[in-house]
Amino acid sequence: MATTSVEELAKLAAANSQKANVLAVASGKGGVGKTNVSANLAICLAALGKRVVVLDADFGLANLDIIFGINSKYNLSHFIKGCRTLDQICHTTPSGVDVICGFSGIDSVTGVSDFVRERIIRTLETLSDNYDVIIVDTSAGIGRMVLSFCMASDHTVLVTTPEPTAMTDAYTVLKALTIKRYNGRVSLLVNKASSVAEGKNVYRQVSTAAAQFIGVKLHHTGVLLRDERVSLAVKKRQPVVLEYPKCSTTRALMTVAARLSRVPVSSTAGQSFFKKVVNWFF
Ligand SMILES: Nc1ncnc2c1ncn2[C@@H]1O[C@H](COP(=O)(O)OP(=O)(O)OP(=O)(O)O)[C@@H](O)[C@H]1O
Ligand SMILES: [Mg+2]
Repeated sequence: MATTSVEELAKLAAANSQKANVLAVASGKGGVGKTNVSANLAICLAALGKRVVVLDADFGLANLDIIFGINSKYNLSHFIKGCRTLDQICHTTPSGVDVICGFSGIDSVTGVSDFVRERIIRTLETLSDNYDVIIVDTSAGIGRMVLSFCMASDHTVLVTTPEPTAMTDAYTVLKALTIKRYNGRVSLLVNKASSVAEGKNVYRQVSTAAAQFIGVKLHHTGVLLRDERVSLAVKKRQPVVLEYPKCSTTRALMTVAARLSRVPVSSTAGQSFFKKVVNWFF
């Protein structure tokens, strides 16, 4: 019979109590595909056996619910105000991914009391214990809120298209994170490329500029081609990986998800992700 040493048991316990890996999906330019990437990668990661929750943190124009086909009366603002519990605003989708819907207009929840802030943090921290991956779909740009979510995450996936404006804006986000001394991993996902070669070239250009001018290593997450099936799926309020499970974009998204799932979990940001975020906001 195999014996288990105390050290092995301790390692096992540590592995089981591991906090979720927090992945922020960000971009400089709007409309590059962050919400679609967040939703579809979440489903692919769930298919790889991860427990995944997606948080819609695009407080200006929250629309993750549309892509997942969720009709929700309640969202984060109801939870923050204390009218609904976390369970009541967290929707389990048929793919197994849980979704926390965002809201439009942050003004409605600013200035909460210390007591309420502690309640929010304590409750949200339970997400870190109950999931392997927390994907945060942010809004475009380098606003305070977006940067706060990225700064508190373990890994920021910057999404760009091959357009020079989108590339420059992605570089600007990376620069802003570097100035703030972000210690997580940053990687680039090129979306809406016309070929894999074009996508790789975009990565080469942005990563070379990052290394040369700001001395930062930008990792490569992958390339997704422009594919009209993405918007056809959105029109049906379905993520493309569910609507077209056998198409090339679904295969590419699975490859990206597999790559992301192999990145070792950093032990720094995950534990206090929600504490940092909530304290920055209120
Ligand atoms: N690979 C793709 N091929 C074709 N169209 C795509 C692709 N990815 C996203 N789109 C389309 O681009 C548009 C913007 O996508 P999405 O809403 O995911 O971007 P976003 O970065 O989240 O935008 P915002 O900055 O407004 O939050 C949508 O119409 C979507 O269908
Ligand atoms: Mg979006």
